[in-house]
Amino acid sequence: MQPPARITQLIDPADLRRVHDLRFDILRKPMGLPYSSAVFAEDVQPTTTHYLALVEDELVGCVSLVESPEQRRTQLRGMAVRADHQNRGIGRLLLQHLQTPQLLQSTNLWCNARQAAVGFYERNGWVTVGDCFDIPHIGPHIKMEWRQLVSTSLGDCG
Ligand SMILES: CC(C)(COP(=O)(O)OP(=O)(O)OC[C@H]1O[C@@H](n2cnc3c(N)ncnc32)[C@H](O)[C@@H]1OP(=O)(O)O)[C@@H](O)C(=O)NCCC(=O)NCCS
Repeated sequence: MQPPARITQLIDPADLRRVHDLRFDILRKPMGLPYSSAVFAEDVQPTTTHYLALVEDELVGCVSLVESPEQRRTQLRGMAVRADHQNRGIGRLLLQHLQTPQLLQSTNLWCNARQAAVGFYERNGWVTVGDCFDIPHIGPHIKMEWRQLVSTSLGDCG
């Protein structure tokens, strides 16, 4: 049986290279894109957080949160799970992990989801916003937002 994955935040900047490797393998290489396309300018901003899914210290999943504090909006980017670990709940674990602090901070979480991954986000409380659009060399995407679960009883003034 596969050992469980644990989620951690990237602390050592040297580990960013492992995130870039995984993003490249899963998100860019299949499209014939160069390694440099897996490196985002925002990766080294102090307000960007990288979450890692590790199985026995091997990186099997990653996702990054790019904050725009002035707009109280945070973009989810670079969600990738290693091919031989997909469909084992690791993507869901990553989302659950980052959604909790977002809820506490009341910021809006959004992403440009690949059309093929929309169902994955929907199963985790996200909704599509607007129409499908094309990102050159990568394919069709749809903007999605995470809708926080709000208890109606709290806001009920009737
Ligand atoms: C999309 C991805 C991140 C999902 O991670 P994962 O670990 O494979 O997904 P999980 O096992 O946590 O799946 C959680 C649920 O979503 C479903 N799901 C997973 N991938 C899905 C997809 N592409 N479309 C629809 N549903 C999907 C699972 O069946 C599961 O459903 P359940 O709640 O009924 O059990 C991963 O498959 C991946 O890296 N894909 C390639 C890169 C990619 O598309 N990244 C997203 C860019 S926006």
